[in-house]
Amino acid sequence: MKTRIIGTGSCLPKTVVTNEDLSKIMDTSDEWISSRTGIRERHLVKEETTASMSIEAARRAMEDAGVTAQEIDLIIVGTLSGDYVTPACACEVQAAIGASRAVAFDINAACSGFMFALNIANAYIQAGLYKTALILGAETLSKVVDWQDRSTCVLFGDGAGAAVVRGDEQYGLLAFDQGSDGTKGDVLACPGRTNNNPLVQTDETLRYVHMDGQEVYKFAVTTVPASLQKTIEAAGLTPADVDYFALHQANIRIIQSVSKRLHITEDKFPISLDHCGNISAASVPILLDEMNRKGLLKPGMKVAMSGFGGGLTWASAVVEW
Ligand code: UT7
Repeated sequence: MKTRIIGTGSCLPKTVVTNEDLSKIMDTSDEWISSRTGIRERHLVKEETTASMSIEAARRAMEDAGVTAQEIDLIIVGTLSGDYVTPACACEVQAAIGASRAVAFDINAACSGFMFALNIANAYIQAGLYKTALILGAETLSKVVDWQDRSTCVLFGDGAGAAVVRGDEQYGLLAFDQGSDGTKGDVLACPGRTNNNPLVQTDETLRYVHMDGQEVYKFAVTTVPASLQKTIEAAGLTPADVDYFALHQANIRIIQSVSKRLHITEDKFPISLDHCGNISAASVPILLDEMNRKGLLKPGMKVAMSGFGGGLTWASAVVEW
């Protein structure tokens, strides 16, 4: 039995902020952002929260999959920007959709969060513990980026993506690779709350994302093709057998580099970063949902996915859709 994605959903905040809009409030330009990254606009929250977007994405994925809340055994949200330290965003989703039988928790693997959630759900399903899981990647990155730092804040957006997965006799997950390198945690980091206990002296109140963009870039263009190659081989395939590559949407130049290294044309790498920016854990499931709703994905098609980012973390999977 394989673990199969049987439905997808996503939710983006209503408000769109273009590169041109950003150039009016900081020293940047559409030319710089679009030529270095491929990003043209992103959606940023006003009223929405990480949980509200997750709940909407979850409802859409359940509708697409044709499953009821009572069928869901497990809910995992990959996020680094939940609304609360506790309760977990997954518990908020559980309450809102009425999945009272489900076990719900969040994980933090930064931009690899959805892919890690997929592998955790797969492990539970393969172990026979659960049948049906709802997995999400959801972020409100606009609250954790430093809006005084033009080299990072222009890159990120807000949103949520979801998928329902279930055991299937015919199609599903063929191979998986995941890894972490905690020794490089400082190249993409966002400190948590400062300690205000009476024994600790601190002046800092809020601290935000900081990133060594070039180090992350180098990590991505070496690790992602190697991880994809390994996963595709483990699935008994070659890159040419893969119908689509759904990669974490950080930068068009990273995607172009992966396409070159795998000798696969760019048309097999759909993108959403042009209108979403980088939404960390949410970017892969949002992209999958867009592909699904455009009718690109047919049963049995081979789809390779890959997430990479803070931690450092990375994860790839090959599925038969
Ligand atoms: O989810 C995973 C996380 N992140 C990534 O995958 C990011 C990977 N890294 C990247 O995508 C690229 O490194 C960036 C897009 C972040 C930056 O591109 P870069 O080509 O590495 O630019 P840079 O940081 O070397 O900056 C080049 C110049 C600098 O000016 P000087 O020193 O050459 O005069 C920056 O100050 O661009 C300047 N700059 C900007 N100019 C206009 C930096 N940010 C901006 C900006 N607008 N927003």
